Amino acid sequence: MREVALVTGASSGIGLEITKILASQNYDLVICARREKELQDLAEEISRQHTVNCKVIVADLTTEEGVDLLIKDSGEIDILVNNAGFGILGDHLDMQLGRQLEMIELNIHALTRLSHVFGNLMVKKGKGRIMNVASIASYISGPSFAVYCATKAYVLSYSRALHKELKNKGVTVTALCPGYVTTGFQEVAGMELSKMEKLTAVPVKKVAEIAVKSMHKGKREVMPGIVNKPLPLVTKITPMWLHLIIVKWVLK
Ligand SMILES: NC(=O)c1ccc[n+]([C@@H]2O[C@H](COP(=O)([O-])OP(=O)(O)OC[C@H]3O[C@@H](n4cnc5c(N)ncnc54)[C@H](OP(=O)(O)O)[C@@H]3O)[C@@H](O)[C@H]2O)c1
Repeated sequence: MREVALVTGASSGIGLEITKILASQNYDLVICARREKELQDLAEEISRQHTVNCKVIVADLTTEEGVDLLIKDSGEIDILVNNAGFGILGDHLDMQLGRQLEMIELNIHALTRLSHVFGNLMVKKGKGRIMNVASIASYISGPSFAVYCATKAYVLSYSRALHKELKNKGVTVTALCPGYVTTGFQEVAGMELSKMEKLTAVPVKKVAEIAVKSMHKGKREVMPGIVNKPLPLVTKITPMWLHLIIVKWVLK
């Protein structure tokens, strides 16, 4: 019997590319997002090109009901990719609180609930893989990106700890920490990449390839793109007052 992979946020960007790779690796798929047409188009493309099954679940994962529906309809899964997420650029007090709380619901709450439910089922089976999409922002305190950076710091910290808790039970947790990737993310975030940022952006297909490879190897965390790799060390040795000035300038 084929193993099953669940990918959240599969309607575009990194999640869509990860889904295509997992289909080519002969996994049955459960794909989830809010945009039904994009998911159906992807499911059709996959069934034209591969012999795997692809189940579409339309759900808003900022809501309790959306996460309930996904858990109820997914069935047994072997791989969980918690990829759905978004950010919004702007000063915290100037932006609507509701949308920022939704960011916390999606980036943190849904990811944690899904990891808890499916992690338990995987431990019972004695095997499984979880990939949580964090970000280079996980290492940054970001003026004008305050809530987003904080949610991604949570994802990285949580995933590292979970990786340690579950490793000896046959389940690995991989945190993916991309830098700039040109996807739907920028439009949703209300940001535009500068020429320099576009130059350092890693192509989305490459990010997905590295992500899936690292997950299969059971790596704890991975940061695609050579230009991004020094960042964790740089943030450690830079005094926080300077860190905040630099990040504020970069995000202006
Ligand atoms: N692009 C970057 O530079 C970058 C860098 C670091 C980390 N990341 C992270 O990578 C992940 C994927 O982002 P991306 O770059 O591929 O952006 P994207 O193209 O905008 O994809 C985001 C995905 O999340 C889904 N999503 C958003 N809100 C949702 C909701 N309420 N319920 C269910 N699904 C929802 C979207 O689908 P629907 O709109 O159809 O719901 C879409 O499939 C995110 O966690 C993001 O934070 C991105």
